[in-house]
Amino acid sequence: MSLMNEIHYESRREKLLSSVEEGVIILTSASPKTRSNDTEYPYRQSSDFYYMCGFQEDNALLILVKTKEATKSILFVEPYNEEHALWNGARLGVQKAQAIFRVDEVHDINNYASLIKDILREHIALYIDLFEDSSWIIQAKNSAKELHETRGVKRHIKAIHDVTHLIRTQRLIKSNEEISEIKNAVALTAKAHHEAMKLSKPGLHEYELQAHMSYVFQRAGAQAESYGAIVAGGNNANTLHYIDNRDVLRDGDLVLIDAACEWELYASDITRTFPVNGRFTAAQRTVYEKVLDVQLRVIDAMKPGVKRDWLQQYSEELLCQALIDLGILKGECKTLLESKEHKKYSPHGIGHWMGLDVHDPCPYVDDEGESLQFVAGMVMTIEPGIYIRADDETVEEKYRGIGIRIEDDILITQNGYENLSAMIAKTVEEVENMCQESV
Ligand code: GLY
Ligand code: MN
Ligand code: MN
Repeated sequence: MSLMNEIHYESRREKLLSSVEEGVIILTSASPKTRSNDTEYPYRQSSDFYYMCGFQEDNALLILVKTKEATKSILFVEPYNEEHALWNGARLGVQKAQAIFRVDEVHDINNYASLIKDILREHIALYIDLFEDSSWIIQAKNSAKELHETRGVKRHIKAIHDVTHLIRTQRLIKSNEEISEIKNAVALTAKAHHEAMKLSKPGLHEYELQAHMSYVFQRAGAQAESYGAIVAGGNNANTLHYIDNRDVLRDGDLVLIDAACEWELYASDITRTFPVNGRFTAAQRTVYEKVLDVQLRVIDAMKPGVKRDWLQQYSEELLCQALIDLGILKGECKTLLESKEHKKYSPHGIGHWMGLDVHDPCPYVDDEGESLQFVAGMVMTIEPGIYIRADDETVEEKYRGIGIRIEDDILITQNGYENLSAMIAKTVEEVENMCQESV
């Protein structure tokens, strides 16, 4: 059961409406996605749509209307249908949706085409996802055009605005309920990572650890994983988006696991890197402790007022210095940073917003292009990594083939931060101890 209720969704809609002067907002549900021929991926609602109404079915629309005098919310849903109920399960239908959702009107989606023109009549602005080309949006634009060409209609749509920016700005600051859902996701992900550490041994396949983590997620009732799991033994960790997970885990190698579940549509996003056989080699430990040190320092710098751009720059300085300390890069840190040589071993950013999406598409900059300052309620991952390819002969042999990332989910609080995933084994000692335990 989601911790969010109808009142939460209603107040989000009110907030969205307060950020527009007048006009019509159209939000669309996600389309089902074909996997192959007539099979589909499990349905996942659009995050923006879900955020504004909590409705989980496909083929649905939310329309918000604002005039100088009043506002109105209209939900369009698929009607209840016996045939659909038999094959795919019962839909809520118009009456039940009207009883549950705190919207002014609920209509049959099949009546959208005939109603949209009246909804748009005498309005001057339309708010949509500008990059969406669904038949609903095309229909709305066509209706706006017809109204424009109709005599007697005095006011016409003369501007189409992006609504996603407004919603995603709202999504930046998480409510207490949203933070609780993220914590639920993180708690289960913690369990899965710990079990993977306990299970790991040479000879297992990457997919065996992946399968066990999926089992932990699904057994506890998680509806989905936040993203495709990465279980990368040895040099596979140096392929950043390695998702094959088919290889054997070898004695003496590390395994990097970036895997996490979603809970009530809220993501977690966690990476741990640990020795397949439970004991770090001296070289692995040296690199691991460097990455860990960077991660801890970056997290410690997080508090309201700090800019994300500054944090990125700070993390690059720390990573560059770590690479110099390891003897992997040679020269002055400042010069190496300018020529971006550290990027060869640490190519990705320090972290990203997280919420209803693992990469929450919330803005990183303000309208002037200035990096946003952290505010209490924001959630960002912190995930530094050092990746040394097995074939990199410019690096001492003992370090070749080592790829390490450590990723936690951090909530900005009034006074600083809370590491939501602090319970997951992370120091060398904690990780080695966890690896010795049995499931
Ligand atoms: N798992 C995706 C990421 O770390 O960004
Ligand atoms: Mn991440
Ligand atoms: Mn990740």
